[in-house]
Amino acid sequence: MREKFNVVKLDTTNTSLVFAVNDGNLGIAHYGKKITDLPQSDSLDMFLLNGQWGASVDRFNITKMSYSFVGDGNMRESLVSVINSDGTYTSRFVYKKHSLVNGGIPLDDLPCARNAEKTLIVELADDYANLTLKQYYTVFKDSDIIAVRQELTNNGKGNVTVLRLMSLQLDVSGTSYNCVSFNGAWARERYRKDTAVTAGTWMIQSMGGQSSAIMNPFFMAKNPDGNGVYAFNLIYSGNHKEIVEACNDINSTRFLVGINDYCFNLTLKAGETFATPQAVMLFADSEQSVTSEMHNFVNNHIVDPKFAYKDRPLLLNNWEGTHFSFTEEKLLELADKAAELGVELFVLDDGWFGHRDNDTSSLGDWYDYKEKLNGSLGKLADKIRAKGLHFGIWVEPEMISEDSDLFRNHPEYAMIVPGREPIRRRNQLVLDLVNKDVQDYLIKEIGDVIERCKAYYVKWDCNRHISDIYSATIENTGEYFHRYVLGLYRVISALKKRFPDVLFESCSAGGNRFDLGMLYYMPQTWCSDMTEPRHRLSIQEGTLYAYPQSAIGAHVSACQNSSFESKFNVACLGAFGYELDATKCTQEELEIIKKQIVFYKQHRHLLQFGKYYRLKSIFGRERKSSWIIISEDKSEAIAFLAETDELINSVPSEWRFTGLDDNALYSFEVRPQNNFKSDVIASGTAGGDALNNCEFSFGKLFSDETDRQPYGTPLATRLIYFKRID
Ligand code: DGJ
Repeated sequence: MREKFNVVKLDTTNTSLVFAVNDGNLGIAHYGKKITDLPQSDSLDMFLLNGQWGASVDRFNITKMSYSFVGDGNMRESLVSVINSDGTYTSRFVYKKHSLVNGGIPLDDLPCARNAEKTLIVELADDYANLTLKQYYTVFKDSDIIAVRQELTNNGKGNVTVLRLMSLQLDVSGTSYNCVSFNGAWARERYRKDTAVTAGTWMIQSMGGQSSAIMNPFFMAKNPDGNGVYAFNLIYSGNHKEIVEACNDINSTRFLVGINDYCFNLTLKAGETFATPQAVMLFADSEQSVTSEMHNFVNNHIVDPKFAYKDRPLLLNNWEGTHFSFTEEKLLELADKAAELGVELFVLDDGWFGHRDNDTSSLGDWYDYKEKLNGSLGKLADKIRAKGLHFGIWVEPEMISEDSDLFRNHPEYAMIVPGREPIRRRNQLVLDLVNKDVQDYLIKEIGDVIERCKAYYVKWDCNRHISDIYSATIENTGEYFHRYVLGLYRVISALKKRFPDVLFESCSAGGNRFDLGMLYYMPQTWCSDMTEPRHRLSIQEGTLYAYPQSAIGAHVSACQNSSFESKFNVACLGAFGYELDATKCTQEELEIIKKQIVFYKQHRHLLQFGKYYRLKSIFGRERKSSWIIISEDKSEAIAFLAETDELINSVPSEWRFTGLDDNALYSFEVRPQNNFKSDVIASGTAGGDALNNCEFSFGKLFSDETDRQPYGTPLATRLIYFKRID
C-alpha cells in the first residue's frame, strides 16, 4: 500500500508550484496556473508520471523532479555533478525536510532579489557522501516570479570537487517546447530566435566571462499545446548556461539554469558551502504577461529601490560625437549646446585619463589627462555644472593597457597565463579581479575618480571578454570565472556603498552584459552601440522582452540613413539621451532636437515606467513594429508605429492597440514631426474599446513622409499620444 504523499504548495499571485514527498523523494506534482484546493493525497499520483513514482531505482527517469544528479539512473542533464572525496561520481540525495520562512535568504557576495515575501527551504542529503543540498524557493508579493537557488555543503572530511551546480531545475510534461531566446553579437544584441526543441538537448550559454551579447540568459519556453509560457532568467553577470532537454522516452522536458560548467570546477573543502546565484522562473498565460511580470520584477525586486521608479536624466554623451578627439574647449562647447537644448546630464566618455588618445593606452591609469582637459577633471566638471548640467563620467575599471603605469608597476595585476602570449582584444588585457589587491586598487582608484569630479552618473564599461584565465592567487583555475564575478560584485558593492546617490549605468562594448546581476547594482544598462533606428528596433524589442524601458540606455546619434525624428521615436522608449556633436547640427536639426526634448520631458515618467505592450513585432512575419505604453491608471498612453517596408505600390498598414480602458473616451494626437505635413489625420477622439479592437489605418499618416520616398529608407515612424477625456 502506497504511503500517503506529503504535499508542499508554494503560491504566487497566479501560479502554484506543488511538490509531493514520498519515500525520500521530492517530485514536482504541478507548476502552472494557481490551484486553490490541493488534490487528496491518495490521488496525487495522477500528477506523477506512470504512477510508479518512488517505486523503482530509476525513479529519476520517471518523475518530474527539482533536482537530479549523476549515477542514480538519471540519464539526463543533471542539476548537480560532483566528484566525491572517495573519487567516485555517484550522488544519491534524498529528501530530509522542508520549512517555510518569511522573507528571503540573501547572500553576502551575490545579488539576490529584494523584498521577498517568503522562502521554502528544501533540504536534501547524500549521507554516504556527507553532502547536503539546500534548495531555496523564494516568492514575492504581487508577482508570479519564483527565485530559486541551491547551496551544497561538504559535511565530510575530504575535498569534494563540484563539476556542476545549476541554480534551478524544472521538469515539465510534454516535449516540443518552442524555445525563444535572445541572441546576437556586438551591435546586433538580443535578436529573438525561436527553436522548437522536439528531441535532444538545446542550450544557450556564455563563455567569455560576461552574460554576453551572443546569448542572453533570459529565455521562454512555450507549451506545445499553446497552454502557457515558462520563462527563466539568472541573477548573474558571468558565464551562464541554460539547458532544455526534450526527454522523448518519458515525454517530459527538463529546464536547467545556472552557472556554466565550461572551464569550471570548484573545490569544496571540509565544512565549506557553495551557493549558486539565484535563477528566476515564471509561468504565464502569454508572452505579453511574461514581459509585464519581468518588467515589474526588475523594478520592484532587482533595481536599487532608491532608483527603481526615479526618472532617469536626459543626457548628452560625447562618444559618438568626438570619440577620443576632444579638447576642453570642444567639451565646453558641447556642454553649452547641451544646456541650450534642455539636456540635464553631460557625460564625458572614453579618453579623459592617462594619455589616452586612442585605444592602445592608459587603461588602469585613472588620473587626469591634464593637457587634454586643460587642467583637472574636477575643474572641468565644475565648469560643466556651472552651465546647469549634472556631470557624468565614463570608466572601464576591469581593464589594463600594456602601455600604462599600472602595467609597468604591476604586471602581475593583468590576467596572463604564465609563459603564454596573452590574447589581446581592442589592444587591452583584463585585470585579474580574482586578486584581492586588484579589487582594493579599483575600489580606491575608481572611488577617487568619482569623488574628485563629484560624479552624478558613472558609465561602467567593459570592452572585451575574458579568454585565457589565470590568477596566481588561487589554487584551482576552475574557480576563476566565478571568482572573477564575485570580485567584480565586491568592487561595485563597495563603490555603491560609498556613493549611494550616484546613478551607475552598466555597459560592455554596447550591450554585452545586459543581465539581472548588473541591474541589481546599476539601474540602467547601455543597450547597444547600434544607434541606427532600423536596426535598433530589433535590439530594443528583443531587450524589452525581459527588461523594462527604464533599464535600457537608448540614444539618438548622428548616424546616417534615417531622419532625426525616427531616431527619436525609436530611442525615446528608454533611459534616453543624445550622443552626437551637437555643435555640428544645423539650426533645423537643433530645433527638432529641442522639440523632442520638450516632448520627452513631458512624457518621461510614462515612457520610462508605463506598462509596455508589444503590438506588431519586428520579429514577426510582416517585420513591422509598433508598441503602446500605458500609464497605470490608463489615463494616458503613447503608441509607436513604424512602417518598415519600401513604399513602392504598397497600401498603408493597419494598427490596433491594446490595454487601453474599454470604457473610456480618448483624445489622440500624433507628435508633430518636421518630416510630414500637418494636413494628414493627426488628431481626433476614439473610444478605448474601438482602439483595443478595431484596425486603424490612420489614412495618409505615412504617405507624405519626406524621407520615405520610393527606393528611400524603408523606415517611417510616428508617436501618438492618447489622453482619457471621458
Ligand atoms: C563601448 C561603449 O559601448 C561606447 O558607448 C563607448 O563608451 C566606448 N566603449 C568607449 O570606448
